Amino acid sequence: MVRVMDVVLSGMQPSGKLHLGNLVGALQNWVKLQDEYECYYFVADWHALTSQYIDTSRIRENIRDMLINWLSAGLSPEKATLFIQSMVKAHAELHVLLSMIVPLPWLARVPSFKEKKQEVKDRDLNTYGFLGYPLLQSADILLYKTQYVPIGQDQLPHLEITREISRRFNNIYNKDVFIEPKPLLTSFPKVVGLDGRKMSKTYNNCIYLSDTPDEVAHKIKTMVTDPARVRRKDPGTPELSPVFQLHKIFSSQPEQDEVVQGCTTADIGCIDCKKILIRNILKVLEPLWEKREHYLRSTGFIDDVVHQGTKKAAKKAQEIMYEVTQAMGIDYGYL
Ligand code: TRP
Repeated sequence: MVRVMDVVLSGMQPSGKLHLGNLVGALQNWVKLQDEYECYYFVADWHALTSQYIDTSRIRENIRDMLINWLSAGLSPEKATLFIQSMVKAHAELHVLLSMIVPLPWLARVPSFKEKKQEVKDRDLNTYGFLGYPLLQSADILLYKTQYVPIGQDQLPHLEITREISRRFNNIYNKDVFIEPKPLLTSFPKVVGLDGRKMSKTYNNCIYLSDTPDEVAHKIKTMVTDPARVRRKDPGTPELSPVFQLHKIFSSQPEQDEVVQGCTTADIGCIDCKKILIRNILKVLEPLWEKREHYLRSTGFIDDVVHQGTKKAAKKAQEIMYEVTQAMGIDYGYL
């Protein structure tokens, strides 16, 4: 008997290089899920365009770089369907159909819409596309009858509106076409950046997956630590140091114990503590670098992966679009 697996789907915007936070917060989780679920992972290039529509010069290389990072981190085209959103046109088709039924206030009240519009001053985000951002995301999710969506906390409102749209569609057309997807939140703590704030490109406090070993070492060596620990002989409080926050993610329990013991008694200095962290982070990144080199050299491979993935995704999407158009009475292919 063929086991019917639940569908997992998630997307990432190709807005630049990936960092450690993306790796442990999302990618490693995606990798785990591909063994247990029917997974669809895509590069959300249309989502990137909703706010980066003027300068599109880097989007192609960002997409390629992102796919290389995905594969290097262990996503497998044999296990998961990997594709680019804009290559599966049904995302746009479903978006336009859902736009007919979504009340404007539902979109206007989404927190990320309000916040980002206020935050971003250098671009005009008073556009139709930007308002529709969460609806496009709903289309992405509903298009594959997705059961589970691995996402971060910040994306929960987008999932909530997806669930509302799903109910509204089924109600209006009186047919159970869509299901209500659930979030899969990673239990991982937030990865702090070099300055102690959340690791984020906007704060310029990242360790990138593409950094060289020297860059990683340099970045960690210049990290701030417990501000009260001015001299080597001053004891420190690990909890106040972002270096320790990273130890909690990347170092073993005995190593963490050693660091706590050494720091609170001033037995070890910050440099010693950082050396352990550098070693452990390099251990995580090294296999990725090797694979990255491999994929950078294998021309054509990424294109093949994307074309295969697009075909699989489009096929699945087509089945649902048939149900959608039938429910709406606009399946004219069958006049
Ligand atoms: N909005 C998501 C983000 O910025 C990216 C995304 C687009 C997504 N479509 C999706 C995530 C569908 C999950 C499911 O992180």
